[in-house]
Amino acid sequence: MGLESGECVKVGVIGTGHVGLVTCVTMAAVGHEVVGTDNEAEKIDLLTAGRPWFFEPALEDLLKEQLSSGRLTFSTEPQQAIEDSQVLMISVGTPPRASGEANLVAVEKAVQTVARYATKECVIVEKSTVPTGTASRVRLTIDRMYPQNAADLHVASNPEFLREGHAVQDAMEPDRILVGVDSDFSRETLRTLYSPWTRTGVPLVETDIATAELAKHACNAFLALKISFINSVAEVCERADADVVKVAELMGMDARIGPHFLNAGMGYGGSCFPKDLMAFERLASQLGCDFGILHEIARANERALDRVFEKIGDILWNLEDKRIALLGLAFKPGTDDTRFAPALALAEKLIAVGSDVIGFDPVAAEIVRSDIPDLATTTNIYEALEGADCAVVCTEWDEVVGLDLRRAAEVMNQKVVVDGRNVFEGEKLREHGFSYFPTGRPRIVSE
Ligand code: UDX
Repeated sequence: MGLESGECVKVGVIGTGHVGLVTCVTMAAVGHEVVGTDNEAEKIDLLTAGRPWFFEPALEDLLKEQLSSGRLTFSTEPQQAIEDSQVLMISVGTPPRASGEANLVAVEKAVQTVARYATKECVIVEKSTVPTGTASRVRLTIDRMYPQNAADLHVASNPEFLREGHAVQDAMEPDRILVGVDSDFSRETLRTLYSPWTRTGVPLVETDIATAELAKHACNAFLALKISFINSVAEVCERADADVVKVAELMGMDARIGPHFLNAGMGYGGSCFPKDLMAFERLASQLGCDFGILHEIARANERALDRVFEKIGDILWNLEDKRIALLGLAFKPGTDDTRFAPALALAEKLIAVGSDVIGFDPVAAEIVRSDIPDLATTTNIYEALEGADCAVVCTEWDEVVGLDLRRAAEVMNQKVVVDGRNVFEGEKLREHGFSYFPTGRPRIVSE
């Protein structure tokens, strides 16, 4: 992606998490000058040394490349990222409060810091997913606390749609870019910022700020809805001896439905869907809207996990002292993120009833160890399967999909596979003497 002269934008990124760091490296990659900052000094030390603090394919190479280009730097001093910047990306965490509402304390603090240190007219961009109305709060905070700078500080929304595990690719080749703006300055600055993308044909959608904020929540909720819908269909399929994979395939052939996000399994996890759904539900209810479907999406997601737990109990009879191998701990392949990971929720349920649980994960094994001390973990899938009474596919890592079935059959105590992601072909498992219990598909029981 080339950049014409004069188009380099000075960008400050506040918060170097999954969204913030990917924003840093990809903005630098298209030719902008970027300074990333974070209040956790250890993260900045790692990033300055070219080492992302979390696992994400292609990120480390691009980080190193952009550090050497000189266009990307990091600092623990927010002032360094803010002064002189034309665009300030706020990509700090917005974790859920107990009520489900998004906790926006970090966003407010970041905005205050930006307002304090900004030295020129600039756009403060909400990059983190925030509830509709946040920009108005941001505006008010600036107007009240920093009235002397207020006229030079524009507020905009620019939600990020990237997926963990594909983050760099998604940021470099997005389906669309969404900006919510309320001033010509914001509009022109963001058009320049994204010109390396729009020049290659990526659509840039410009809306008012509230619409952009809301669209992000609507997208995530709708994707979660597709997953919960197919998971509920899977439950019916299982009881009716039908095959959810075929049902999904057929549904996906209808262009109005589309084939994506119809993989039945043990539910969605991650840092976005569970949290954003709660925040959207909360927002809708605060606005007096009865958006009951949002609640049902989350309920169906819990049910998908409960079904796997019940299925294991049904297959193994008593769960006490049974050794259960969870294959995959991250909430999906390609990431070491275990936030709201279905595998961990399942591990906790099994441990609570006295099972001996071991989890395999190629990248998240170490991280999980401190979170659930009673869960043994390993990066060696065959070690996890050694003596196991049941293997549960939780994450569709290559190591899981490409499992050597002969070797697995040799080391397991009972040849039982519960497939929470429908990655295996039942007949192949039967050939190796396994009993196979997929999700929403007929089970194959070996004699
Ligand atoms: C999601 C959105 O896709 C992204 O646009 C947004 O910016 C952030 O939230 P992410 O959480 O990284 O991205 O992962 P995604 O690939 O969407 O998967 C989320 C969860 O849904 C995973 O646990 C995955 O296993 C599950 N999933 C996904 C299914 O169970 N079935 C599917 O068909 C698709």
